[in-house]
Amino acid sequence: MSPENDGTNRNIPVHVGIIMDGNGRWAKQRGLPRTAGHLEGLKTAKRMVKEASDRGVKYLSLYVFSTENWKRAAEEVSFILGLVKQYLLKEMDFSRENKIRVRHAGNMAGLPRDIAEEIRKACEETKDFTGMQVILALNYGGRDEIVRAVNRALDAVNKNAESSAGPRGGVTEETVRNFLDNPDIPDPDLVIRTAGEFRVSNFLLWEGAYAEYYISPKFWPDWTGDDLEEAIDSYGKRERRFGGVKEART
Ligand code: FPP
Repeated sequence: MSPENDGTNRNIPVHVGIIMDGNGRWAKQRGLPRTAGHLEGLKTAKRMVKEASDRGVKYLSLYVFSTENWKRAAEEVSFILGLVKQYLLKEMDFSRENKIRVRHAGNMAGLPRDIAEEIRKACEETKDFTGMQVILALNYGGRDEIVRAVNRALDAVNKNAESSAGPRGGVTEETVRNFLDNPDIPDPDLVIRTAGEFRVSNFLLWEGAYAEYYISPKFWPDWTGDDLEEAIDSYGKRERRFGGVKEART
């Protein structure tokens, strides 16, 4: 997917993914419990949805809760999931006003029933909205997504083989891709990580194969529209070759 131009002669990434890191450290710095950092992190996420939408980003993937985050203390896990519920219930007016479509990436089966139900409702209610799409990566792991996709692709290939209605053989890149959580969404152009860590942490492993990365030293609760602006500016200066070369050799 080629990035779009916003009329100010700079490239705007179509799809931005964010690893929202540093909530715990932000809280620790202030002598507060980790949960206070997550609460502030939620406020930042709400701000960033607006900031990204105002800048013409079409898809915003937020890494809210990973398949590995269940290892955290039970109170912290239930606090974060409570914030997700709050977001889904309270942000619907904002979504309606701004035509924001809510989507989910991750393993729905492993989520508490009430959270899964709220996600389904929000996705259903906003499915025809034409504004920015916000993808909540929740109980999400890149490896888990690929394994689920491969299993679904194998099922499809085996069914085809039984009925001899379609192609036989193993799975291809295209079949795996078609069974990812959101196959219609273009791959991320830009992945931002806050709090200074240079790690991918199992986020969008397949989709991010050619993403540009931007690492910010700031903790997520401190992030502002200016920080997003800087990340987009930095992205606009990159030369993307997708494994090719700039000019064809003669
Ligand atoms: C990483 O910081 C943050 C998380 C695992 C939770 C992210 C959740 C939110 C921002 C709130 C919910 C948001 C939405 C959109 C519903 P960390 O706790 O690993 O920080 P640390 O590395 O400093 O300890």
